[in-house]
Amino acid sequence: MIETRAAVLTEVNRPLELTDIHVDDPEPREVRVAVTHVGLCHSDLHYMTGTVPTDVPVVLGHEVAGVVEAVGAAVTGLRPGDRVTGALTPSCGLCANCDAGRSTQCLRVEEVRSRPRPAFRFPDGRPIARLGDIGAFSQHTLMRENALVKLPDDVPSHVGCLLSCCVVTGVGAVFRAARLRPGSTAAVIGCGGVGSAIIQGARLAGASAIVAIDLDDERLEAARGYGATHVVNGDAGDPVAELHRLLGDGVDYAFEAVGSARTAATALALVRPTGTACLVGIAPGGTEISMPASDFFFQEKRLIGSYMGSGQAREDIAQFARLYQQGRLLLDEMVTRVIPFAEITKGFEAMTSGGVTRIVVDLQS
Ligand SMILES: NC(=O)c1ccc[n+]([C@@H]2O[C@H](COP(=O)([O-])OP(=O)(O)OC[C@H]3O[C@@H](n4cnc5c(N)ncnc54)[C@H](O)[C@@H]3O)[C@@H](O)[C@H]2O)c1
Ligand SMILES: [Zn+2]
Ligand SMILES: [Zn+2]
Repeated sequence: MIETRAAVLTEVNRPLELTDIHVDDPEPREVRVAVTHVGLCHSDLHYMTGTVPTDVPVVLGHEVAGVVEAVGAAVTGLRPGDRVTGALTPSCGLCANCDAGRSTQCLRVEEVRSRPRPAFRFPDGRPIARLGDIGAFSQHTLMRENALVKLPDDVPSHVGCLLSCCVVTGVGAVFRAARLRPGSTAAVIGCGGVGSAIIQGARLAGASAIVAIDLDDERLEAARGYGATHVVNGDAGDPVAELHRLLGDGVDYAFEAVGSARTAATALALVRPTGTACLVGIAPGGTEISMPASDFFFQEKRLIGSYMGSGQAREDIAQFARLYQQGRLLLDEMVTRVIPFAEITKGFEAMTSGGVTRIVVDLQS
């Protein structure tokens, strides 16, 4: 057991509390990671505001990079000193979905994640939950060996952390879930961290037009830098009519990266007959979506969803890191600011105030 400092959510809609906690020793297949950088993802905010339910007290944070500090007895692929990022969907490698190359839908993930004792506790012994069994808003955490990927030397940790959530989610949604075809057209609703990665995925996949839709002009301007060929401010009118005005037709693929029933319905409305709408944003718990049935039978539209990139996270992260090394996947540009751990709450405020693609917290400063 070691003592470390963590930002704990004790109650929904309360600021995170920086406090000392105890971290258990690694189990045989676990690794203790000294967390160096964590990106602030809107999913963390969903739990903080109760949009998506969570147990409390909890340590959130999942877009993680750090340094391996100690390894369990059965760990063979990682050593102390290795710089790593997370592949947040640990998998068993044996179930039907893992066999089919869909480790993000491992059927035994609960079993894989279970451990005999809580990983985090308050000094008085009370257990603390961890988001996704990661809990990266802590200077130390425990992760499974197979939920980590080594970062190449020339991928700095403050950008490498993005690979573990918004990049693998966004680029994976394009390549793995939608399988966007070169020359086709795409629209992306929501241009934060995830949407910016989707735009880049569409550019890398060879889309001939990429329409970025957001409510914030600064994010739309940044979207052009990631590869958007057209931008639409959703506040200025009906984005579907505007997209038709720009392209003369609906798009082949529309990606929803906000998380609401309304934007999900807009995504379907944006696609042309036979087009595919892909839902990536996480809507509030219990949300139901309503869509015109005729879009499916008369127009043969398709509706799909994508979770954490819909693929093999470790393989995908390693490949996307290479695209960054080649200058083809822009990650430095996505990091709007790196802030010290003590300012984490301000970081979440900035995230909702516009002009931000990703805020990254430096946990060691
Ligand atoms: N499927 C997955 O695996 C997965 C993984 C990570 C995040 N997510 C979810 O994806 C969503 C986006 O995450 P993020 O971290 O990029 O969030 P973010 O806050 O960085 O970005 C959201 C963007 O949506 C824009 N927006 C809000 N309402 C809009 C509207 N009505 N029309 C157009 N744009 C609108 C905001 O201005 C902002 O730019 C969240 O719901 C998050 O929980 C899903
Ligand atoms: Zn995330
Ligand atoms: Zn499995």
